Amino acid sequence: MNQQINPDLQTVTAVTHWTDRLFSFRVTRPQSLRFRSGEFVMIGLPGDNGKPILRAYSIASPAWDDELEFYSIKVPDGPLTSKLQHIQVGEPIILRPKPVGTLVHDALKPGKRLWFLATGTGFAPFASLLREPETWEKFDSVVMMHTCREAGELAYGRKLVEDLQNDPLIGELVEGKLHYYPTTTREESRYTGRITDNLANGTVFADLGLDGPLTAERDRAMVCGSLAFNKDVAAVLEGFGLEEGSNSAPADYVIEKAFVGDGI
Ligand SMILES: Cc1cc2nc3c(=O)[nH]c(=O)nc-3n(C[C@H](O)[C@H](O)[C@H](O)COP(=O)(O)OP(=O)(O)OC[C@H]3O[C@@H](n4cnc5c(N)ncnc54)[C@H](O)[C@@H]3O)c2cc1C
Ligand SMILES: NC(=O)c1ccc[n+]([C@@H]2O[C@H](COP(=O)([O-])OP(=O)(O)OC[C@H]3O[C@@H](n4cnc5c(N)ncnc54)[C@H](OP(=O)(O)O)[C@@H]3O)[C@@H](O)[C@H]2O)c1
Repeated sequence: MNQQINPDLQTVTAVTHWTDRLFSFRVTRPQSLRFRSGEFVMIGLPGDNGKPILRAYSIASPAWDDELEFYSIKVPDGPLTSKLQHIQVGEPIILRPKPVGTLVHDALKPGKRLWFLATGTGFAPFASLLREPETWEKFDSVVMMHTCREAGELAYGRKLVEDLQNDPLIGELVEGKLHYYPTTTREESRYTGRITDNLANGTVFADLGLDGPLTAERDRAMVCGSLAFNKDVAAVLEGFGLEEGSNSAPADYVIEKAFVGDGI
């Protein structure tokens, strides 16, 4: 067993390829690993020189799951994902078991309606939080906005949302509370447009039949996307009167980067 040789090694148990640039995989979970749904860890593979290549990854599975799930980009010449995209069931990956992050319920004040705002692989922490009972116990409703360039990139999120309704643990909690709003920006689909625009111009409220705009009394938000997206969404949320929170000072919204860098 990998874990007996090196306690940071876990074994891949499943791999699913969603598009030519997106895949998800599951690995064994160290018995000692405790985390809060929404947090991230460092994972990786051994490099050619023997030194591990480690990167931050949101844990996409909820805290109660026996295994850990990750949702990943494939960067063609990326030091980690050019290799990680070829990972097979039974192979080892390195996992440093020190979870951290701000996309956690502890960093938000109580509210009525919770907004999950994600672009691209920024969906990963919400794949965890959507399956977390605390999400449904704490809020009357949850709006999941996920935006990608093309419709195919929404597939992982769409399947997860569909499976939620049939989940033996979460299905009943979710009933009538989840509003899913997937949009595309470079291809026609049922809903289109950037999250920033759809929030600011009221399209999402009209399309879903929700009360708008956001208010600091009622609404809380968690944001995960590129740096530019995070910055622009923060400005929209601040415009509605929401204030940024953290683990040490809970408030109305929290933000995490989905990746660092300026483009593939
Ligand atoms: C807090 C945090 C959480 C993260 N969680 C995830 C996650 O759950 N899933 C995931 O796929 N990545 C996640 N990342 C990004 C991840 O750490 C790596 O950057 C990614 O796996 C690519 O690694 P690499 O070594 O192949 O390329 P890198 O050298 O790390 O990246 C090369 C370039 O690819 C682009 N890029 C990197 N990651 C992404 C991405 N996710 N989406 C679009 N473009 C990207 C950037 O422009 C970057 O400059 C997270 C990053 C941070 C900071
Ligand atoms: N997605 C692909 O098919 C694809 C393929 C090959 C390479 N790449 C490269 O991969 C990198 C990451 O691409 P990505 O598609 O994962 O992420 P991305 O460029 O961050 O785009 C993801 C989604 O976020 C939207 N968005 C981007 N900036 C925003 C902002 N400031 N405010 C509101 N919404 C914003 C985009 O809308 P807009 O479309 O309006 O920008 C898009 O719908 C890019 O450098 C890209 O060149 C992407």
